[in-house]
This record gives sequence, structure tokens and C-alpha cells, in this order.
Amino acid sequence: MNNNILKDIIILESIDSTNNYAIEILKRKRLNEGTIIITHEQTKGKGQKGNYWESEPGKNLTFSLILYPDFLLAEKQFFITKLVSLALTDFLENYLTDITIKWPNDIYYRNKKIAGILIENAIITVKLKYSVVGIGININQREFLSGFSNAISLSKITGKEYDLHKLLIELKKYLNNRYNQLKNTKITTLNNDYYRKLYRIGIQSRFISKGATFAGSIKGTTENGKLKIELNNGEIKLFDFKEVKFANDNFAG
Ligand code: BTN
Repeated sequence: MNNNILKDIIILESIDSTNNYAIEILKRKRLNEGTIIITHEQTKGKGQKGNYWESEPGKNLTFSLILYPDFLLAEKQFFITKLVSLALTDFLENYLTDITIKWPNDIYYRNKKIAGILIENAIITVKLKYSVVGIGININQREFLSGFSNAISLSKITGKEYDLHKLLIELKKYLNNRYNQLKNTKITTLNNDYYRKLYRIGIQSRFISKGATFAGSIKGTTENGKLKIELNNGEIKLFDFKEVKFANDNFAG
């Protein structure tokens, strides 16, 4: 089965957040699976951990994708994060090398963030009812506000300008492929690819958790998305999202 579901598109001139817009619609009616809601300008773009997602109007890709992964148990929702992170990586690798996924779902070029994902799921009992997958990819923006100094864009790296419409068409192909992998239970492929793409995997790093700094190296993730870090004494520790960060990470997002 290789369905192409990404056919419908809603184009907005300006909106607070495409994720909020999608969630509001979904409260009232069902949109086709694969619908994309894209905007020229976001006035209150939402990032992870309540951060603001900065995006200069008309310069970047900022959109939400609607999925109904009702075949997935809620406890397996990390697979949505995996497939979307991998689709973004697949896409960016057409233009750049050194693209990695900084757990859980930031897309990095070397040590800088080029894209972010904010997934908002609705769960009914133990199943996923819908997933609003918010995606922001920095494309043509050249300057970022000081608080977001860790941000980089495709254009800043290559010096070129890109056609956002063409890029979206390309990216949709990868999102569709990776979503089909999940539907067709190509779990090992998704797991292996995600593992291989993890930022600083197997590299000695310093981390902070609950105010304490420690050394270790990332060994992978668990099925439900926890980060596995091997400490220098050989012990493996698991961390949930928000429980750990790299010690030299001072940036938002
Ligand atoms: C992050 O902090 O890394 C997540 C950023 C997600 C940004 C995208 S832009 C489109 C969608 N709508 C939002 O309000 N946020 C997401």
C-alpha cells in the first residue's frame, strides 16, 4: 500500500498558529487525512516547551499536517515524531550534509537548528484520534533575533534563495513515504534510520538533569521515546522529554 494522502491544502495569509487553526477546525469537523494548512505569516508561532517560533513572513515553511494514525496505540505515539523527523532529514539531505535529529525532534545542521516540529495529539482511550503535526523549516530567512541565535536557515548555509512552493511539493513526498512506512509496519527501518541520524550518538557529551551536570553518551531511544544515556560507569539511564539537556545548550528550543 503506497497511498498518497497529501493532496489537500489550505493556504492562509496570516494566522496566529497553524497548529491552533487546525485544532480549532478539528473540534468542529473532520478534514481529509494529509491536509496541509500553510501560512505566509504566523503571529504566535508555537515552539516546543511554550517557546515562540520565530519566522519572518514569507521566508520559511510553516505549516501543519493532519494525520489520523488510529492504527497506533497512544503509547506508541513517538513513532509520529520519528517518521516526521526522518522525513525532514530525508528532505534536507537533498541540499545539505551533516543533518541530524536532536532528540526528540529538532533538526540540526551541525550545531545549529534548522527545523522544529510540534506535534499535538488527541487521544481517545488508548488510541490516537488525530495528530496535528506542526512543522517549521528555516529556508530563506537570513537574520534571527538574538534570543534565537542558535537558528540557521538553508539560505544562510548555501547562500541561495529557494522557491517555497517547490520545496513543499518535494517535502510532501518524503512525509508520505515515511508515513507509509509506519502504516506498513516498517518499524525496524524507522527505528534504525532514527538511531543512525541521532545528534551526538555515541559521542562523549555533558548533560544537565535536575540541576546536576554529568558526562555520558547517547545510546539511542526506547520504544516510547525516552533517551538512553550511558554514564561513564557503564550504567544506562533513561530520560523523558524535558528531563535532560546538553550542558552547553543555552538556547531556546
Ligand atoms: C520547536 O520548538 O522546535 C517546534 C517548532 C514548530 C513550529 C511550527 S511552525 C508551524 C506550526 N505552527 C505552530 O504554531 N508551530 C508549528
